[in-house]
Amino acid sequence: MKTALPDEAATIAFAERLLDALPEELAGWTILLNGELGAGKSTFARALISAAGHTGTVPSPTYTLVEPYALPRGNIYHVDLYRIADEEELRYLGWTELDDGCRLVEWPDRAPGLTEQADLALTLSYDGDGRMAEFQGQSSRGEALLEALASADSED
Ligand SMILES: Nc1ncnc2c1ncn2[C@@H]1O[C@H](COP(=O)(O)OP(=O)(O)OP(=O)(O)O)[C@@H](O)[C@H]1O
Ligand SMILES: [Mg+2]
Repeated sequence: MKTALPDEAATIAFAERLLDALPEELAGWTILLNGELGAGKSTFARALISAAGHTGTVPSPTYTLVEPYALPRGNIYHVDLYRIADEEELRYLGWTELDDGCRLVEWPDRAPGLTEQADLALTLSYDGDGRMAEFQGQSSRGEALLEALASADSED
């Protein structure tokens, strides 16, 4: 599923649409955010976290690795693995402690094993002044969600 995101507002609206399509209880969902530097991964994560009810800033987790948010639909963990050099370092992250929430992961390719645990993988790429988004389902419920989003699109 490919979507053109001509400006930042489009990325924000796209994140809000995904949140609407996700189940009320967000715990356990893992969403990978791929894309080169500046592709809009944090913009997407920030928009989703804000739409889920967080008020205030959404700082980059580049140095903290994880920023947690306790929200009405459950916990959201915003994870940024940019600074992870090898998978060994991931042991310090305490990944299993994030099981009770929804995980939004920037730079997931730093931890190749994550792909098997993911539900959705978003890839953002540069497209002129804007961006292109491509979603892939990584689990059966992730694929079902994308089908529901696509059929909602064709009804618009
Ligand atoms: N669809 C879009 N079109 C044009 N600009 C966008 C779009 N989405 C986000 N941006 C802009 O791109 C810039 C970088 O965004 P952002 O910080 O979200 O990227 P990132 O992928 O998280 O980068 P990093 O790899 O450094 O973490 C911001 O200035 C943001 O406003
Ligand atoms: Mg970022």
